Amino acid sequence: MTLQFFLDSANVEEIKEALAWGVIAGVTTNPTLLAREKGAFRPLVQQICTLMSGRPVSLEVLATAAGAMVEEAQQLAAIAPNVVVKIPMGEEGLKAVCRLQSGGQKIPCNVTLVFSVNQAILAARAGAAYISPFVGRLDDIGWDGAGLVEEIMAVFRRQQIDTPVIAASIRHPQHVQRVAAAGAHIATVPFSVLKQLAAHPLTTRGIELFLADWARSRPEERL
Ligand code: G3P
Repeated sequence: MTLQFFLDSANVEEIKEALAWGVIAGVTTNPTLLAREKGAFRPLVQQICTLMSGRPVSLEVLATAAGAMVEEAQQLAAIAPNVVVKIPMGEEGLKAVCRLQSGGQKIPCNVTLVFSVNQAILAARAGAAYISPFVGRLDDIGWDGAGLVEEIMAVFRRQQIDTPVIAASIRHPQHVQRVAAAGAHIATVPFSVLKQLAAHPLTTRGIELFLADWARSRPEERL
């Protein structure tokens, strides 16, 4: 299995640039990321869904009660066929996920704000299409966020739960390396982290040296 990258961003320019690299398989947003962007919500998310052309785009509900979450999820899902609705973990969230999997139109849900193995198991059982443990926010309170992803992946293997796990709240390249080693299906990364993943000071230095050597010995020659 190969780790997939999603971009954790609602910024159109970042999404376009990351798409041009050929490495992102989806986009995740949340109310904080969308609040940073200018312009109306609907045209912005429609543009993101069009840019991602068929690849999943997570849009989060603001409602906190199950009935209202279901209604909001239906409205979000109507925006584009590649919308995945982000539902916060919890009793109301589980009810909403369950209802969204029954009946005619099943709406794929990304259960977000997951901070324990037990929450991850419950989300999978309720019918989540994706489960998003938050790595950095656990680190923030002195826990080991990447360690949680390791535990979830070990339990899911043992329990034969195949719900894709999105390692979220990724703050630096070491997080990516650890969740990849743990077997996470997806890492959703801010654009700043994606850029860090591509860079190495020795790569930069190596290019500088090659160019300097060429310029010194054959300055006039071109293909
Ligand atoms: O994917 C969730 C992410 O956007 C949260 O990240 O850095 O606010 O904890 P952060």
